[in-house]
Amino acid sequence: MKNTILTLQKCKENHEKTVMVTAYDYTTAKIMDESGVNMILVGDSLGMTMLGYEDTLSVTMEDMIHHSAAVARGIESAFLVTDMPFMSYQTSVYDAVVNAGRLMKEGRANAVKLEGGAEFAPHIEAIVKASIPVVAHIGLTPQSVNAFGGFKVQGKDEAAAKKLISDAKTLEEAGACMVVMECVPAKLAKIVTESLKIPTIGIGAGPHCDAQVLVYQDLLALYGGFKPKFVKVFANAGDVMREGMRAYIKETKEGTFPAEEHCFKIEDSVIEKLY
Ligand code: KIV
Repeated sequence: MKNTILTLQKCKENHEKTVMVTAYDYTTAKIMDESGVNMILVGDSLGMTMLGYEDTLSVTMEDMIHHSAAVARGIESAFLVTDMPFMSYQTSVYDAVVNAGRLMKEGRANAVKLEGGAEFAPHIEAIVKASIPVVAHIGLTPQSVNAFGGFKVQGKDEAAAKKLISDAKTLEEAGACMVVMECVPAKLAKIVTESLKIPTIGIGAGPHCDAQVLVYQDLLALYGGFKPKFVKVFANAGDVMREGMRAYIKETKEGTFPAEEHCFKIEDSVIEKLY
C-alpha cells in the first residue's frame, strides 16, 4: 500500500511509529522500499554522502532533481520527500514555489522539505497553496551551519526551547504536513510532538517523535569519519562490501573468476574456422 500524507497522519493518530530513511539513487531506494520503510528522504545530505562536499551548502536544484527522479523510479510504497537545497527558497516566496514545483514535476517527489522556523511560514503557506505538501525542518538546520557556528544541539535554554515549540506550531498552522526535529533534547521533542496534530520526525530528538529518520550510510556503517551521538549502526554493510571486493580481486588475480558457469559458449566448429 502506498504511504501518503493521509496514511502517515493516521499512524500518528493510532500511536503507530513510522520510519524514514535517506536514499539518493535507484538501487538503494528499491532496497529501502522493499524493506518496508514508510518514507524515503532525498536529503541534501547527498552533498556529503554522495558528492563528497564538507557540508550541504553547495548542493544545487539540479543535484536534487537528478537524485530525486532516480529514487522515485525505485519506489513503490514509500512516501518520497525531497529537500529544497540552500538558496532555493530563502531568497523569496516566489522562488520557493517555483523550486518546490520543479522538485515535484522533475524530481517526482511526493513532498518537499525545507529548513527553518516561523520566518519561513509565508513560504510554506504559498507552496501548500500550490498543492505541494511541505515537511518543515527545525532544531539543528544544517544549511544554517555558518549562522549557528557549528553543528550543535538546539533548544537547550528556556528561550530557545519556547521558540522551538512556537516555531513548530506556526509551521503547522502554515500548512506543513510533518516536522523534522534535528538534534533537540528528547524531553523538548516530546512536548513538541504532543503539541502538534501533524507527525514529528526525529533525528537526534529522542524516542517520543512519531517517526525516526537516519541517513542510510550512518545506520549501515558505509560512511567513514565522524559518527554523531544519535546514530546507531544496525548493520556493517561497509565491511560486507569490503569483504566482497577483496574476494573479487583475489579470485580475478588467481584466475578462478570467471569460472565456466560465467562464460558464454560457441560451437567448436566455428572456433576451428577462426585459426
Ligand atoms: O539532508 C538530510 O539527510 C536531512 C536529514 C538529516 C533529516 O535533512
